[in-house]
Amino acid sequence: MSSDPVRFDLDRVRAEFPILSARTYLNSCSLGALSRRSEAYLAEFRERWHAMGASAWYEHWLGRIEDLRGRVAAFWGAAPSETALLPSTSVALSVVAESVPVGSRDRVVCSELDFPTLAYQWAVKPGVELVVLESPDGVRMDPEQYAEAVDERTLFLATSHVFFTTGYVQDLRTLADIAHRAGAWCLVDGYQGAGQVPLDLSSTGVDFYTAGPLKWLLGGPGLAYLYVRADLARTLEPRITSWFAAENQFGFDPRAFRYRSDARRFEMGTPSLPTVHTALGGQEIVDEVGIERIAARNRALTDRLVVRCAEMGLSLRLPEPAHRSAIVMIRHDDPPGAVARLAERGIIVDHRPGHVRVSPHFYNTEEEMDLFVEALAAYPA
Ligand SMILES: Cc1ncc(COP(=O)(O)O)c(C=O)c1O
Repeated sequence: MSSDPVRFDLDRVRAEFPILSARTYLNSCSLGALSRRSEAYLAEFRERWHAMGASAWYEHWLGRIEDLRGRVAAFWGAAPSETALLPSTSVALSVVAESVPVGSRDRVVCSELDFPTLAYQWAVKPGVELVVLESPDGVRMDPEQYAEAVDERTLFLATSHVFFTTGYVQDLRTLADIAHRAGAWCLVDGYQGAGQVPLDLSSTGVDFYTAGPLKWLLGGPGLAYLYVRADLARTLEPRITSWFAAENQFGFDPRAFRYRSDARRFEMGTPSLPTVHTALGGQEIVDEVGIERIAARNRALTDRLVVRCAEMGLSLRLPEPAHRSAIVMIRHDDPPGAVARLAERGIIVDHRPGHVRVSPHFYNTEEEMDLFVEALAAYPA
């Protein structure tokens, strides 16, 4: 790819993703597009399964897991020893929830804008008080709200990097500081952040961050990634575990469990190998284009979308520019109807209550923004 901070070879990138020549695909915050690169990794996985059977584990697949861990760690600015692979965000959150000491701190603070599986972890735990803060405007949270709610009884400040229905980007350093000032942990659901917002987790101070390949990282369903800050990855002792978390994984001694000395002590069994392969393909492309270019490109596409919507009289629910991402909500009286009619024209977007949700990614074009806006405007809100 070019060294220009903004430009990259868009045609070459688009050629990697077959769906882009068949559809106007604008729903990457639900599911990133499948690339030829991911398919090639998947084909390699299948071929080795055919050719080698179980010996592929030792000769190739354990190595592929480490390839992915290394890429993800470098991508989000942490060490491989701070990066665990898990089956889903929900499992990652559960193992974090089960890894901190239970004591006088029994309150967890989150927001009504978070993806609900974040709150559900604590809603089902006896003795835990779950505080769900209200958004002042349905789009954002004010850091002061967290600062007021997080106190000496708080175990976690648990919230999102980017809110899934509003695209609002929260500042990780601010969240971590608020949590730590009160002696609480900072846990961030970064599923909608990783792959569209540049990350340097080690410098943010957050204790835990979860993400996965499904959406902006273009790797498909079946895996999640968990960052655990180095000192915690060495010392916390999860109360749910697996053989992947054991120091001597291949010792097979049921009498001798000892935690590994890194974030793998948070792992919960065999990761989905097909997804390890598809995720490698997606991550390679993201790394080659570069997250700074992706963020700049997504900003340009989003700006175009916002301007074109205004020109066509479509009403948006948008964060202020400094906190905006590539998740754009457009008010509509019949979102499911609009989404279905757009799909008939080959335009793939999504809906949430009261809104059509559109999420372009770096592989989309300005022309696709225009096409979508004109098509939506033809189905009046
Ligand atoms: C912010 C956020 N968190 C979590 C999830 C889902 O988590 P899981 O991997 O448990 O299905 C989603 C969407 O699928 C999401 O948008």
